[in-house]
Amino acid sequence: MSCHGAIVGATGAVGHDLLEVLAARGFPLRSLRLLASPRSAGQRLTFRGEELEVEALGPDSFRGIDVAWFSAGGDISREYAPLAVAAGCAVVDNSSAFRLDDSVPLVVPEVNPEAAKGHAGILANPNCSTILLVLPLAPLHRAAGLRAVIVATYQAASGAGQRAIEELRSGSRATLAGEDAVADVFPHPLAFNLIPHVDVFRPDGYTKEEDKMLFETRKILGLPELPVEATCVRVPVERCHSEAVTVQLQRPLTVDAARALLSEAPGLELVDAPAASRYPMPLPMAGRDAVAVGRVRQSRVLEPGLTFWLSGDQLRKGAALNAVQISELL
Ligand code: A2P
Repeated sequence: MSCHGAIVGATGAVGHDLLEVLAARGFPLRSLRLLASPRSAGQRLTFRGEELEVEALGPDSFRGIDVAWFSAGGDISREYAPLAVAAGCAVVDNSSAFRLDDSVPLVVPEVNPEAAKGHAGILANPNCSTILLVLPLAPLHRAAGLRAVIVATYQAASGAGQRAIEELRSGSRATLAGEDAVADVFPHPLAFNLIPHVDVFRPDGYTKEEDKMLFETRKILGLPELPVEATCVRVPVERCHSEAVTVQLQRPLTVDAARALLSEAPGLELVDAPAASRYPMPLPMAGRDAVAVGRVRQSRVLEPGLTFWLSGDQLRKGAALNAVQISELL
């Protein structure tokens, strides 16, 4: 059965990847409406070899639409997703607006596909760093029981949108030319720098991004008490987030057993041959569906426990691909 679809935020970084993923997976679309701010109305984007015109988002945008992928920020989702649902449209929302709402499924199809069944119109796509993290956590939990997770992220500029990519590029050019890099999207220049500040700070010193990793991981894995300590860092990489992860387990798991589990888990690719200098890195993962995991070793601090490293395209699996996979479950 084919359907009528719409992308809200079609001109953005995730919108761009949604167009590619929908075409590459042959998602059965009879039509696709591209929606963005009035600034982009009339712009033309290519989908399946055909030029489509971008329209300004409005209250009537969802008439006759069966499924809409939202990626234009939380405020737009809060205002327009209920209107889309009222018009009979299923919404896959990439913002954080509804993720922790008890009536909204938060889905990573390789991990908790059954959650999608109970939806009431809106399905939430988790935070990009969280999607990458739960892919290896799920099989490790099934095998040995998770007790705690400590993670540091190395998040690419593109996670903050199209303007952030431009800021990293122009800042890199300016720095190399001996000029000052300008910070507008980020709180400081990102070129040749690291910024341990993703999203806003909470009174307890953690950021909202770090809270997303805690609360969304708990909801997706169905482990409401799981301790998850995250430190989220923006790095001068254009595309693909990486994460250093340490897990404490309930039962010991050998490195070989963990590698075997991770190599078979859906959505993951084991890249773990340190002697050959093979391990996950952002550059080779750009544009790839799989999340690479490697550097698997016994934790020296949390026992029994494991430490590993992952890299994955946060615009693909961390956003557009996961959103399309959710709609494929419907
Ligand atoms: P536009 O390009 O017209 O500003 P990114 O995450 O890369 O920054 O992209 C954000 C997306 O959200 C863009 O497609 C952007 O459209 C869209 N957007 C921003 N503000 C609005 C708005 N008020 N109404 C509809 N779409 C919006």
